[in-house]
Amino acid sequence: MASYMIRGGNRLVGDVTISGSKNAALGIIAASMLLDGPCKIDHAPNVDDINMLVEICRSMGAQIRREADGALEIDPRFVTNGETIDERSRNIRGSYYLLGAMLGRFNYASIYMPGGCNFGPRPIDLHVKGFEALGATTVFEHGRITVSSEKMQGEHIFLDTVSVGATINIMIAAAKIEGVTVIENAAREPHIVDVANFLNTMGANIRGAGTDVIRITGVPVLPGNVSYSIIPDQIEAGTYMLAAALTRGDVTVRNIIPKHMEPLSAKLEEMGARVVSGDDSIRVFIPEDTVLQATSFRTMPYPGFPTDLQPPTTVLLCTAQGSSKMTENVWDNRFQYIDDLKTMGADIMIAGRLALIEGGNPLTGAKVFARDLRAGAAMVLAGLVAEGTTEVNDVSKIERGYESFVKKLQDLGADITRIDS
Ligand code: EPZ
Repeated sequence: MASYMIRGGNRLVGDVTISGSKNAALGIIAASMLLDGPCKIDHAPNVDDINMLVEICRSMGAQIRREADGALEIDPRFVTNGETIDERSRNIRGSYYLLGAMLGRFNYASIYMPGGCNFGPRPIDLHVKGFEALGATTVFEHGRITVSSEKMQGEHIFLDTVSVGATINIMIAAAKIEGVTVIENAAREPHIVDVANFLNTMGANIRGAGTDVIRITGVPVLPGNVSYSIIPDQIEAGTYMLAAALTRGDVTVRNIIPKHMEPLSAKLEEMGARVVSGDDSIRVFIPEDTVLQATSFRTMPYPGFPTDLQPPTTVLLCTAQGSSKMTENVWDNRFQYIDDLKTMGADIMIAGRLALIEGGNPLTGAKVFARDLRAGAAMVLAGLVAEGTTEVNDVSKIERGYESFVKKLQDLGADITRIDS
């Protein structure tokens, strides 16, 4: 089990370049399995979740090569049926997009139930509801989910909860089936737009992605044979923006879409940080003599404040002056890391989905765990400002989603080392 040793106290200063979006890449790589020809995907991040999905696609017959510049050359034409027997699909969440892709391509898809970060129940009933509306039947058996249909047909689907995964999965499944599918109450996250743009570039006809109504007119063939570049990772960018504010540093986060960062930028400014947006960069710093002030956050689907930035933001609130509130509206149980933060000296009380944070208690180094991907990143951030040494264990969870995390932090001046044990 690898760990990170962090000696706190260094201000982060300099530039950091953000990688391609992990959550967009998961949808796009799975969606590429639907194509009738090869494609090239630039900026697919080199992180464990993506590499695992690539391995699963290879096990299905796809030919995938990673170029020296990180681009993925994908040829899905050798996938001959929708059966995915690779057990690694249990380890990641994004494997569920293979259901939509294989159902759309073969009218049949079968995989082991997807895994992923554990923060309470992660149902897939809305995915299933969508597939069934399109004409599929679903069987859950021996830890597997199988969806199949004699004939798929476009339909009107209303999602009663806003779900990123269900929106993307239904969009993928519908891209090649006959008729028009309309998804209402669709999620609007940037990576939904990215998956839709990818499919459109490959020949699909998807309109409205980024709004709450998406209209997919099925096309018989998705020729592919085109390159596509994945958008920058909104959550990775946010993590470095928070790290800059937390260490009272001065960091320019490059290769990003500043619009995607507005929910965070606005709140950082409200707390007293300076956030200067360029065309594809954001600089975050704290003006001299400014004391960051407490505030309240509520996580919401996009364009609200992203739940995936909730854990690192809570760490920042520990260092602000006054009492802050963090309300988690998306996941039932995403405060598990708070016990670790408390062992580092944080003053936080949890009441259901609300965390009350009393800022100003100095954090002190301790042995803590990466409970999940973003909680792990939060622990690293806490270590950056804690007095003494923090040991973050089980960091493979962090490496599922942050490309070159240690190197990027070191380049900004952090004292962090990876220990293999
Ligand atoms: C995606 O998960 C992301 N994962 C998560 O990021 C992110 O936290 C989440 O969206 C919300 O933004 C990937 O993209 C791989 P949802 P997803 O379906 O799609 C309920 C990270 O750290 N729901 O939008 O699984 C669900 O319980 C990961 O990168 C149903 O009720 O999330 C939740 O309360 C962690 N039924 C809400 O919807 C369903 O069928 C939103 O979930 C599906 C979801």
